[in-house]
Amino acid sequence: MTKNKEKRDKHFPLIGHRIARLFEPPKKFIVSYVTKGQVVADLGCGPGFYSLHFAKILGPEGKVYSVDSDERCIKALEKKAKKRGYNNIEAYSSCASNLSFIEDNSIDFVFSNGLLCSIAPKQRETAVEEIKRILKPNGLAFLSAARASYSYMNTEEWENIIEGFKIIRREDKRSLYSAEVSLK
Ligand SMILES: C[S@@+](CC[C@H](N)C(=O)[O-])C[C@H]1O[C@@H](n2cnc3c(N)ncnc32)[C@H](O)[C@@H]1O
Repeated sequence: MTKNKEKRDKHFPLIGHRIARLFEPPKKFIVSYVTKGQVVADLGCGPGFYSLHFAKILGPEGKVYSVDSDERCIKALEKKAKKRGYNNIEAYSSCASNLSFIEDNSIDFVFSNGLLCSIAPKQRETAVEEIKRILKPNGLAFLSAARASYSYMNTEEWENIIEGFKIIRREDKRSLYSAEVSLK
């Protein structure tokens, strides 16, 4: 019998997201990408560790669109944002392949950390097209994907994705692909 199980979005328990943070402290990682007043899209935001840091840096004139297809993550993020008094986060429980609530060419910085290896493969190409649609012509995107047995991403797929952008910087670590890109 042929196994033909459709691959779905990978979702993680909230504790798993917390553990990941122990290995990747958010502040150091993101401060150089954004400035006050900008608009950021955090795609596959998880419970919002990065979104919350962006919200603080961007201030009340800026805005973060936080998107995750796991509703538990969005609820956890909304709770934290409320507690910290951040009114500049708009959180959506949605697939990154449908960002119709974000206007064309409106985003200064797209942050997609771990999304493209977790999204259901059949949605991935559309999600990448959405990233291109929402980025400002002079905007920047950070894309990363795990290189692991559990990842939906392989080297050829990763190369195809980043070749669709202008590559500013890339790093291929043993366990992670990452790249800073802009529109071509
Ligand atoms: C590896 S986690 C990264 C979380 C977060 N970006 C971080 O760095 O802490 C990947 C996230 O992508 C989300 N995800 C998976 N498929 C998705 C989809 N189709 N649309 C939006 N988010 C998705 C998962 O729920 C998960 O929160």
